Amino acid sequence: MTEATEATEATEATEATGVTGATTPFDHAERRIWSGKAEAYADTYAQLCAHLVPALLDAADVGPGTRVLDVGCGSGTVSVAAAARGASVYAADADPGMAAATRRAVPGVTPHIARLPELPYANDTFDAVVGNFVLNHVGRPLAALAELRRITRPGGRVAVTIWRSPGAPGQTLIGRAAQAAGLIRPTWLPALAPQDDFPRTPEGLAALLDTAGLLGARCSEVAWKHRCDPDTWWAGAERGVGAIGQVLNSGGTEGLAAARSAYDDLCAEFHVRDGLLVLPHVALLASGRASEAGSPGEGSSGRLPAATK
Ligand SMILES: C[S@@+](CC[C@H](N)C(=O)[O-])C[C@H]1O[C@@H](n2cnc3c(N)ncnc32)[C@H](O)[C@@H]1O
Repeated sequence: MTEATEATEATEATEATGVTGATTPFDHAERRIWSGKAEAYADTYAQLCAHLVPALLDAADVGPGTRVLDVGCGSGTVSVAAAARGASVYAADADPGMAAATRRAVPGVTPHIARLPELPYANDTFDAVVGNFVLNHVGRPLAALAELRRITRPGGRVAVTIWRSPGAPGQTLIGRAAQAAGLIRPTWLPALAPQDDFPRTPEGLAALLDTAGLLGARCSEVAWKHRCDPDTWWAGAERGVGAIGQVLNSGGTEGLAAARSAYDDLCAEFHVRDGLLVLPHVALLASGRASEAGSPGEGSSGRLPAATK
């Protein structure tokens, strides 16, 4: 049996039982949110999330020959960029459709279907692990970071991005439209449990990395203006992408129409250049080292095999 086959079987065993000790109601909702959304995500919000990719790869020291894992790979933006740097790219996503999208986007990479906070890789497998806007989608962020540290070799780097809270006006635009239309979060879509949450600030995320055992943890804010035509910006949520997409669609056709009308009014608050909305966003980029170079890692866990391509 190859290592890759074993990894797939381990993943399938977890999927068969459905729930693991590390899985929360938030995680179950996330599986539902992303299922069947790979194409809609690639067409819309993937372009927004792409902004942080060069800085994320820099923060993880990804260059030629780096053995890097792109966790929560989505439609493959980070994997494509890492491959263009000459890195040896591995990828994983909890959603099979997303894993397939990355496989199509990056020749030679076969992503694992695997979910944080339990990944099918041995300790110290990677030189670098990166997660672009993924940590904000896991039910146990601290356990997820500890897992990323575990699979990174001593001296290797872990880098992640999340949205800052409070968000910038571009981030809250569609949520405000949904609110104006009286739409509310569906009951099956729980917020993160308070005991698992952390302040979405540079200090809060750096402290989480530190608590997860990452050394020299640092975190900075990155603000930028995303330019997008109003229909495309709306289309991501209308097609059900992300929690906001679920809120938007919770009120049926009428709710959607009411929210669209509110959205059109709110768009007037934003600058428009060449027909494109100028949407301010602010995110957090954090990174740290798995352990000191040359120090022993955690040794072999014997849990699951190392990744193969
Ligand atoms: C906002 S998208 C980001 C995708 C990609 N990193 C990018 O930059 O475009 C979040 C991704 O995280 C994945 N995801 C959510 N929870 C996950 C988990 N617990 N483990 C692994 N992937 C997860 C989703 O399936 C989705 O593809």
